[in-house]
Amino acid sequence: MHLKGKHIVVAITGSIAAYKSALLVRLLKKAGAEVQVIMTPSSQDFITPLTLATLSENPVKSDFTQSKEAGTWTNHVEVGLWGDAMVVAPCSANTLGKMVNGVCDNFLMACYLSAKCPVFVAPAMDRDMFLHGSTTENLEKLTGFGNHIIEPGTGELASGLHGKGRMAEPEEILDALDVFFAGHQPLLGKQALVSAGPTYERLDPVRFIGNFSSGKMGYAVATALAALGAEVHLVSGPSSLPQPEGLASFTRIESAQELLEACTARFSKVDIAVMAAAVADYRPAHRADQKIKKAGEALEVRLEKTADVLATLGSTRRDNQVLVGFALETQNELEHARGKLEGKNLDLIVLNSLNDPGAGFATDTNKVTLLFKGNKLRSFELKSKADVARDIAAAITEIISA
Ligand code: CTP
Repeated sequence: MHLKGKHIVVAITGSIAAYKSALLVRLLKKAGAEVQVIMTPSSQDFITPLTLATLSENPVKSDFTQSKEAGTWTNHVEVGLWGDAMVVAPCSANTLGKMVNGVCDNFLMACYLSAKCPVFVAPAMDRDMFLHGSTTENLEKLTGFGNHIIEPGTGELASGLHGKGRMAEPEEILDALDVFFAGHQPLLGKQALVSAGPTYERLDPVRFIGNFSSGKMGYAVATALAALGAEVHLVSGPSSLPQPEGLASFTRIESAQELLEACTARFSKVDIAVMAAAVADYRPAHRADQKIKKAGEALEVRLEKTADVLATLGSTRRDNQVLVGFALETQNELEHARGKLEGKNLDLIVLNSLNDPGAGFATDTNKVTLLFKGNKLRSFELKSKADVARDIAAAITEIISA
């Protein structure tokens, strides 16, 4: 099963086969997927949102407006971005025609048109509707858009006719999605170690030296590697982010020393290591047992160097491991990043410059340049951290399969 942790948007349109969607949602949930159901208004004549919300454990979305008084709305773009796949099941002849022509008269159609993920379509209609030339042509056009058609079955239809047009069985739809994700998991069987977040270096029982890292970039990398099939072990410094789904393990650490211990314990067993943590370079040389009291006009704190986790891994790495680091720079960016790539014995370094607006700590976006061993360089535009993470995961896949 390759659906564990996948985000699946189940889009339901007005067809008697809508009752089968309840079973599809149940099967997806059993396979470990997260499900968001969206419905057209007419599909609600066939099955209730309550049934689907209960089975998917998620409120159903079917309308742009949440509250007219408050002026709140449901963002169709977010649904499209959330999904790893969207499956329109059942897809009526009416919705099929709208998909082909870009008719955007309901929430489901807005989600379809803005979805960036692969779209699967399971048509359901009466035999003669299915055989009509316009349906044949529409299905060809959808294939041309890159959508995947899950062929309807042949058998008894609700009209009493016999022929092709009944929606594929939920098990078949599940299989089609599973086969798709199996083919898109090039890191299946690979173990990955990812570090994320800041480290806190204690001064006394109530104070620490830390940094502004939120953990967002490292968590996104962990999620992107897991989506490609890797078994991901995430080691995280203090972060308020929820633990990503679908990880093989999650270890919480606080200091650079704890990060070093957690990473070195795991490193020899992994194929990939991505060190995205913002590690303190120095820590207080002495940690006071009691709170340091206010006294005198100034306080001097002596700092001592921490171990460089990434460089430590780089010095013990095997050739068949892929080691990736980050470099956050404010000046002479490329030169410094190249120095770290070589000095720490890496395959890839992700450079982000604090001079780029929208890049760096605590933002939802990042603008990076990937520097590969051997001087290859790839620059990207400003993107969401989730998209940047997918680019990094794709680059790692490229290195592994080279
Ligand atoms: N890193 C690490 N251990 C440290 C410091 C950094 O593992 N003690 C890792 C980070 O996780 C990152 C990479 O090294 O992947 C580069 O971190 P950065 O702070 O940019 O570089 P430094 O080597 O600390 O150099 P400087 O602070 O002087 O730029």
